[in-house]
Amino acid sequence: MISPEQKMELLVSLCKRRGFVYPDSEIYGGFANAWDYGPYGVELKNNIRDAWWKRFVHGREDVIGIETPIIQHPKVWEASGHIATFSDPLVDCKKCHHRFRADQLETNHCPDCGGELTESRHFNLMFQTHIGVTQDASSIAYLRPETAAGMFTTWKNVRDSMRKKMPFGVAQIGRAFRNEITPGNFIFRTREFEQMEIEYFVKPEDAPRAFEAWLEEQKTWMTEVLHVDPSHVVYHEIAKEDRAFYSDRTIDTEYLYPFGQKELYGIANRTNYDLSRHQEFSGEDLRWFDQDTGERFLPYVIEPTWGLSRTVLVVLLEHFDIDEASTADGEDKEPRMVLRLPPRLAPVKVAILPLQKKDGLADTGRALARDLRQSGLIVEYDESGSIGKRYRRQDEIGTPWCVTIDYQTKDDQTVTVRDRDAMTQERIAMSDLKNVLQSKLA
Ligand code: GAP
Repeated sequence: MISPEQKMELLVSLCKRRGFVYPDSEIYGGFANAWDYGPYGVELKNNIRDAWWKRFVHGREDVIGIETPIIQHPKVWEASGHIATFSDPLVDCKKCHHRFRADQLETNHCPDCGGELTESRHFNLMFQTHIGVTQDASSIAYLRPETAAGMFTTWKNVRDSMRKKMPFGVAQIGRAFRNEITPGNFIFRTREFEQMEIEYFVKPEDAPRAFEAWLEEQKTWMTEVLHVDPSHVVYHEIAKEDRAFYSDRTIDTEYLYPFGQKELYGIANRTNYDLSRHQEFSGEDLRWFDQDTGERFLPYVIEPTWGLSRTVLVVLLEHFDIDEASTADGEDKEPRMVLRLPPRLAPVKVAILPLQKKDGLADTGRALARDLRQSGLIVEYDESGSIGKRYRRQDEIGTPWCVTIDYQTKDDQTVTVRDRDAMTQERIAMSDLKNVLQSKLA
């Protein structure tokens, strides 16, 4: 058994070694808490994002998608309350000048050097920039700290152009930026990250029911799509005094990370706070007209929110495993690291591995890889190194199936399909391979 700290270390090093996540700007000595997604990391992230969009936008009649800019009119952030209240309490150490969140400290002295701390002050988490060539108060703009605001600022246009019936939701996936005081734990908390959010507009009296329904959606997403063991997840009802002041109810989905039980997702009943504020600040009538009753009202909003970058971390942690596999000579056993990713999320679906380069095996393998690629599968072809090492590499990438071309393939046009998790091998006709893989993926 490895300790949680060892697990985290092994995962971070696997991510770098195998091309999932690298430290950013490493050639310049690194840039703390910034990470690059490598070729497999970006595929994994895209697969999660696509699964989400398919399930919650394409899969539902009552949700539509939008995309709004990272830099919006600065008034948006006045109306949303972010300029006034989107801050963390901050203290500095007078001796080593390290910075901490006052609400996360357990002692009154610096946890790094024991030095005296300053009084706590509020630190706004929004990144500021300037638009255009002048740099004065009139040119200040902000990088969005959440994607949600876009759904409120487009609300009027969506309402007027989309002919939806209440209730309905508006979804968006995109980057958000926060000048976090205490980023860290790999990609758990970074200054730049991606969110997948839905603002679900409902009649006020329907809000509690919609809250429950979306909470259930968040639960089934965890088990059905991410294949997360429910015993690793805690649904935490946030007490009134700890919720955002506009929220009528908030539940955080918390995951048991190796570094503790912490937030993964959230859901909030934001009441009509956002629309009423944007109505006030813009002067536009943002009410909904109910054709059945002839009433006009500001809808309530249920907001389920999913961090995409954090989901990548959870999927990697949840499916990282160490078991045993046969050594190259088959004589002994050795530890094997494996990512048991759900096939749908795996960056590579199948690897084609000829046993030898010679005797036409490589040609057969390349042709097979080309054929499978044309049918839309993500395929990797690898002909170098011992077969054991090639299996190990695919195990660490999380490739669910490895196809081996051997001398029998030349005689009877069959190949072996090795299952990543069971490590069993099945011999099948090459002509059936495409269908077999596609049905496993369905
Ligand atoms: N619109 C609501 C909202 O933004 P939030 O709890 O502040 O709520 C939503 O953020 C989700 O975004 C979190 O549950 C988390 O998954 C993700 N998230 C927030 N801050 C993050 C950060 N600094 N790094 C990575 N993910 C973050």
